[in-house]
Amino acid sequence: MKKTAILLILSLAFIQCKNNNLTKELIVHKEVGFIADSAMVVSAREEASKIGVEIMKQGGNAFDASIATSLALAVAYPYAGNIGGGGFMVYRKNDGAIGSIDYREKAPLAATKDMYLDKEGNVIPDKSTLGAMAVGVPGAISGLFDIHEKFGSLPFEKLIQPAIDLANKGVVVTQKQEKVNNKYRPLFEKANGRTILLDKAWKAGDTIKYPALAATLTRIRDHGRDEFYKGKTAAMLVDYVQNLGGIITKEDLEKYQAKWRKPITFTYDGNKIISMSPPSSGGICIAQILKSIEPFNIEQYQHNSTKYIQLITEASRRAYADRSHFLGDPDFVNIPVDSLIASDYLAKRMLDFNWNKATLSSDITHGNLTFSESDETTHLSIVDQFGNAVSITTTINGAYGSKVYIEEAGFFLNNEMDDFSSKPGEPNMFGLIGAEANAIVPQKRMLSSMTPTIVEKNGKLKMVLGSPGGSTIITSVMLNILNVLEYDMTMQESVSKPRFHHQWMPDNIKFEPAFDTLVFPSLKKLGYQIDQSNSPVIGKVDAILILPNGKLEGGADPRGDDKAAGF
Ligand code: DON
Repeated sequence: MKKTAILLILSLAFIQCKNNNLTKELIVHKEVGFIADSAMVVSAREEASKIGVEIMKQGGNAFDASIATSLALAVAYPYAGNIGGGGFMVYRKNDGAIGSIDYREKAPLAATKDMYLDKEGNVIPDKSTLGAMAVGVPGAISGLFDIHEKFGSLPFEKLIQPAIDLANKGVVVTQKQEKVNNKYRPLFEKANGRTILLDKAWKAGDTIKYPALAATLTRIRDHGRDEFYKGKTAAMLVDYVQNLGGIITKEDLEKYQAKWRKPITFTYDGNKIISMSPPSSGGICIAQILKSIEPFNIEQYQHNSTKYIQLITEASRRAYADRSHFLGDPDFVNIPVDSLIASDYLAKRMLDFNWNKATLSSDITHGNLTFSESDETTHLSIVDQFGNAVSITTTINGAYGSKVYIEEAGFFLNNEMDDFSSKPGEPNMFGLIGAEANAIVPQKRMLSSMTPTIVEKNGKLKMVLGSPGGSTIITSVMLNILNVLEYDMTMQESVSKPRFHHQWMPDNIKFEPAFDTLVFPSLKKLGYQIDQSNSPVIGKVDAILILPNGKLEGGADPRGDDKAAGF
């Protein structure tokens, strides 16, 4: 095990679990992640994590580091890191102040509700996922500049320079990158009508230089935020997209503005959880699932046992049904947030849960609430030497987004429009179905599952985490919270554990290939459908745990090239 240590805890007696009589083995192997004294970045690429750490070594705070790391990911991890997409940040400052910013993409002004339907009202295959029509108005640069304006302590030029240098110097291709690049190559030409930089048989060990992206980042360094939304880069983007038949205009870019929002907060088992509010469904869904299972005292069930999977599946089924009906952009639809995460409402939702039989998703609809009407992503977790914490999830949606790559400007554009509900009841690329609340409207933000999250215990920072994975993001974050809070796992052990997922529709439980199949017969007997074919990995969680001695433990997901760095 390269940088992870194996800690052997020898105990002469059985170790008693917190509040129950479960026993653990005599010898417990605990996989411990990278440990740092005071500051840490965990992200999808080592280069990006190191750049964030370097910024903190120069005296920068977690916000500075998050900007530098995000921009470095746009270079080192074109699969998901981006300036052509959007994201969310949740923060907790060292004085306990919390907040979040939404820099999610928006539907262009010329978007229409039925833009992905043919004359017969059927969804046109690929139109919302591949090519220029799939692109939402990017929010990433607006978000990073707003974060800097409010919390940055070093000049922006200093934060963007490492990404420029990295783009000029080049990034070494990893094995995993070689694999995904080869997989998606055929789509690059399809989306762009030409070959692009990545449309080559790049091999692990090759170095790819990104001069066009370096030039774009340099212009942003020199001219600021407006370069992307009003300057040369804006003109390049609009020309490129329109030449490919897309509908984004100069006005769309000029109008884009990131938004500070109040995060979702709730308590679970004495911990305060801080997560993203709409237009992300993450915070509300995770609150619904955790608060639905809270009365059951989940730690009495063995981790990943039939009962554990059953309880979480039933809570998830109900939460995702609510997601589909109630959630969308809060600037366009009213969302009964408080009612949706209220314990009494959730207890009622769980009343028909039966230990002896799976509930059918076809028998579940959204809850009854009256209220007034009026493939790619990446996560980074940061704690700085001052005790500030930042949790950012950012995305271009699918792998390499829409595959539209502005060759001259050196970056991919998102295919975030697919996160809208193209047609009620019709699944998107993550199998999620939506309703009116998430219908396409010009300038509206599409519903997200991104769940950048921070956990606090007794008024102190405890954990920072998040994940990519589309609809499985919510589950991945929730399972990791349980792994640590209920099963005392180390952060690294937690992120490495095999995962499962249920999202109401389709009515099956997805399992990672590494999941122990021993539980399958009992689940099948109870009426659960098992799907182990369709999900090679569920999420890629990057997380930081604050240890009792104040040190930081990184959890870098082995499913990717993810890496923790710090000091
Ligand atoms: O915002 C969302 O929920 C999706 N666009 C996230 C996409 C994603 O995580 C893809 N990664 N596997």
